[in-house]
Amino acid sequence: MPADWSPPQYLRFADERAQPFRDLVSGIGEVDPAVVVDLGCGTGELTASLAARWPGARVTGVDSSAAMLAATAEHAVPGQVTFEAADLTTWTPAGPVDVLVSNAALQWVPDHPRLVVEWAGALAPGGWLAFQVPGNHAAPTHALLADLCRDPRWSDRAGALAPTTDSVLDPAGCLGVLESAGLATRTWETTYLHVLTGPDAVLGWVRGSVLRPVLAALGDDAPGFEAEYADALRTAYPPRPDGTTLLPFRRVFAVGQRGTSR
Ligand SMILES: C[S@@+](CC[C@H](N)C(=O)[O-])C[C@H]1O[C@@H](n2cnc3c(N)ncnc32)[C@H](O)[C@@H]1O
Repeated sequence: MPADWSPPQYLRFADERAQPFRDLVSGIGEVDPAVVVDLGCGTGELTASLAARWPGARVTGVDSSAAMLAATAEHAVPGQVTFEAADLTTWTPAGPVDVLVSNAALQWVPDHPRLVVEWAGALAPGGWLAFQVPGNHAAPTHALLADLCRDPRWSDRAGALAPTTDSVLDPAGCLGVLESAGLATRTWETTYLHVLTGPDAVLGWVRGSVLRPVLAALGDDAPGFEAEYADALRTAYPPRPDGTTLLPFRRVFAVGQRGTSR
C-alpha cells in the first residue's frame, strides 16, 4: 500500500462506516465461538465490539497499517482482544477459526476471490465467514476520480491507482465463490443513503479512503488535483438547502457457514 491510513480522517464518519459492520455480523448465527478473527480490522473499535457480542471468545484483529494498528491500542484487552500486524494476502491462522470477519478491506486486495476460498478453508467445522465490500466503484466518487487519475497531467503517477468498476464481486459472484468453497451462503447488497454534514463532505469521506493513495502518489501536485476533484464532486453531490449532502453508498455482503463435518 503506497501511503498509510489516517485514523482521524477515517473515523470522521465512524457511525456511517460502523453500520455496515453491524449489519454484516448480524448475519452470523454463531452463539459461543472460541476463536474470532477480524481481517483488515482498521482502528479496532469494531473488532472490540465482537468481544462484546461473544465475551467467551479470543478476538484477534489483523491489519497491515502501522497507523491503524497504533490506534487499536486503546481497544486491546489482554487475553480477550488482541491485534497483530500481517498482510491479508499471506496471513494464515494458528488453528481453526470459528468466526472470520472482514469488513471493507477486501477491495484493497487484488485477487480476493482466491483469498476468500483460502479463508473458508481455515474455518472450524460449523465456522462462519462474513465479509462486506463497497460496491460503489461505478459511483461518481470513483468514476470522477478515475477520470482525473487517467488525465495526462497526472496519469504517470496516478493512472495505475484509478478505481476500476470490476474490482469487487457482486452478490451473485460472492455467492458463487463461497459456495465453491463448500459454505452454505447468503449474500445481499444494500445502498446506504448517508446524510453528511459540513462543506465538501463527500471529499472528506473519500479523503479517508480511496483518494488517500492518489494524493500520496501525486506529491506536490496533490492540491491542484484535489481542487479539481472537489469541484467535480460538488456538481455530482450538490449540498441540500440545509447544508447536508446525500451520499448513496452501495455495499455487498456475504455470510457463509462451513458444514459441521469435514
Ligand atoms: C476501509 S478500512 C476498514 C477497517 C475496518 N474493518 C472497518 O470496518 O472500519 C480497510 C482496512 O484494511 C486494511 N488493509 C488493506 N489491505 C490490507 C492488506 N493487504 N493486509 C492487511 N490489511 C489491509 C487497511 O490497512 C485498513 O485498515
